[in-house]
Amino acid sequence: MNRKVTKAIFPVAGLGTRFLPATKSIPKEIMTLVDRPLIQYAIDEARAAGIEEFIFVTSRGKGALEDYFDHAHELESSLKKSGKTELLDILRGTNMDSGAIAYVRQHKALGLGHAVWCARRLLGDEPVAVILTDDVIMGEPPCLQQMIEAYKETGGTMVATMEVPAEKTKAYGVLDVAEDMGAIVRAKGMVEKPKENPPSNLAVIGRYILAPTVMDNLNKLKQGAGGEIQLTDAIADEIEEGRDVFGLRFRGQRFDCGSKAGFLQATVAFGLARDELKHEFAEYLSDITAMYKAAE
Ligand code: G1P
Repeated sequence: MNRKVTKAIFPVAGLGTRFLPATKSIPKEIMTLVDRPLIQYAIDEARAAGIEEFIFVTSRGKGALEDYFDHAHELESSLKKSGKTELLDILRGTNMDSGAIAYVRQHKALGLGHAVWCARRLLGDEPVAVILTDDVIMGEPPCLQQMIEAYKETGGTMVATMEVPAEKTKAYGVLDVAEDMGAIVRAKGMVEKPKENPPSNLAVIGRYILAPTVMDNLNKLKQGAGGEIQLTDAIADEIEEGRDVFGLRFRGQRFDCGSKAGFLQATVAFGLARDELKHEFAEYLSDITAMYKAAE
């Protein structure tokens, strides 16, 4: 079985209603942490992991996202003329090769499994990565690279996973663990957003490496949790059919940028990680925290 992963799917069709009114006119994936849109973090992570083809599953109103990947020739030449090489490098870092990006439309919001299925004709008989841009992960090496390295050994299908408090499991796909090998666990089941009795507290985080057979499972799927076609169910079917599914406890910090609190936390963490900002920003944070505490 081919274990080279060169394609990644980015499901970006969601409406982002949790961030209204901001998302009234901009896709949520364009919202920025410090100075980079969420989608750029996802692309950088994919590139670091060796991904060469980027498949975006989009929907109406996502034009700004498609434009973001166009080369900004006028801007580039004006930066070049004025000798702003640092900015030019930043800008060029966002450029994508012609033909490296494909867009497919998800015509109906039928769930994550359906979004991934929409990309099926662009995939061959090879594994594919999926990155959910809401889950921003600060890690070295980046999370998907850690997974691809582990996957070279394991094959099968792999999800990123982390421990969450028991009361939070209902917001996630949750692994039923057959064998815990430390960083890697083998799953004997997977449940999407269990309302009660979660099989473990190992939550699925938005990074996947899918065996081609997961696409066949998606072909057959009906609605699952929340009335949506769930990727979790298609992965659970792999286990039913006797194929391997693993979870990787990645090293790194994950931010839920699909929630306002998570987005703010990520802004703080990524701000503090920047050399040019960290001193001023840390000082401000400690001052404001002291003020906030004194006022309580
Ligand atoms: C999706 C998946 C879920 C996973 C989560 C990670 O849910 O369906 O299995 O645990 O992403 O962020 P969503 O958060 O889109 O509802």
